[in-house]
Amino acid sequence: MTETVLRNARLVLPDEVIAGDVVIRGGDIAIVDERGHGHSGFDLEGDWLIPGLVELHTDHLEGHYAPRPRVRWDPVAAVQAHDAQIATSGITTVLDALRVGLDDDTKLEPGDMQTLAGAIEDSQRRGRLRAEHFIHLRCEVSAPDVLDSFTAFVDNPRVRVASLMDHTPGQRQFTSLDAFRAYYQGKGGLSDAELDELIVKRRERAEQVADVNRQAIAGMAQARGIVLASHDDATEAHVAEAIDHGVTLAEFPTTHAAAAASHGAGLKVLMGAPNIVRGKSHSGNIAARELVDAGLLDVLSSDYFPFSLIHATFLIGLDETVGMPRAIAMVSANPAAVAGLDDRGAIAEGKRADLVHVHVHDHVPVVRAVYRQGRRVV
Ligand SMILES: [Fe+2]
Repeated sequence: MTETVLRNARLVLPDEVIAGDVVIRGGDIAIVDERGHGHSGFDLEGDWLIPGLVELHTDHLEGHYAPRPRVRWDPVAAVQAHDAQIATSGITTVLDALRVGLDDDTKLEPGDMQTLAGAIEDSQRRGRLRAEHFIHLRCEVSAPDVLDSFTAFVDNPRVRVASLMDHTPGQRQFTSLDAFRAYYQGKGGLSDAELDELIVKRRERAEQVADVNRQAIAGMAQARGIVLASHDDATEAHVAEAIDHGVTLAEFPTTHAAAAASHGAGLKVLMGAPNIVRGKSHSGNIAARELVDAGLLDVLSSDYFPFSLIHATFLIGLDETVGMPRAIAMVSANPAAVAGLDDRGAIAEGKRADLVHVHVHDHVPVVRAVYRQGRRVV
């Protein structure tokens, strides 16, 4: 069996940071040792060694496949380009978000999402990819086509998470109509009158279909063991509804009250790493750092910028009030557990040897090397 030794590292273990060595045999971590046991191998010279990051929600693939409104790139090449940035950001397991239920703000079609799912599957099987990829279905329950698209995906074994989203203006992410206007004006260049019309149309449509769709998708997901996530919960009523539907992951709660209610009920609370790096939410909602300080944040996600995940981890982890073990758990063990991937997510004997060698000399960390199941992929 091939053996790799990474020695003289600053190891982030689940409960402590130690100076030590890791011995990899086959694809797993065989030995975790304090320094000085005479292992010979690659010398990390005191750099950090952390578990490979686990990303539950990134929409970064879409931009590679549709880089311009009417351009569709070769889907396998798009997946590879996306994977390269994911892996060099220290992410070894990723759930790629595909849209189910399409908004008017995208020119993408349901067929495009199936094309991407096919390209992910094919690329993974043929060994083209550095990270391990799964699928997260972002289900916009206010969209009329959401059930048909969900049904077409629901038996795909690569689907591990489905999030129940509702971006109807006047609630959740867009409680403020000004935030909705700013978001859509930025995207589509609509006039004020066109925006007013869109707001009325969206609200009418959601009134008719959102509850029925939410219920149906929750039922189908639960029957197939797909993890359910709530999205942009703002009120305790939203959280109660999510719990009723069997949700175990609360994505991007927009208020302290919703985060506290979710965390208190045993749901894992996920927030965007860009929100940590920027110090605020792009929609004007709660700052993730506030939830870290209140002990309410369980999982970080890179959302739209892959490198933000490791960047945010070191920003909060090197802050003594948080510490590296807790920060690392938010991007490895906690998301792995949410996705049912208990074979990874920690530097511990018997876990998968998904590891990242990180050098830090100022506020932006440098990813020096990445190993997935013991094989160097970056
Ligand atoms: Fe949202």
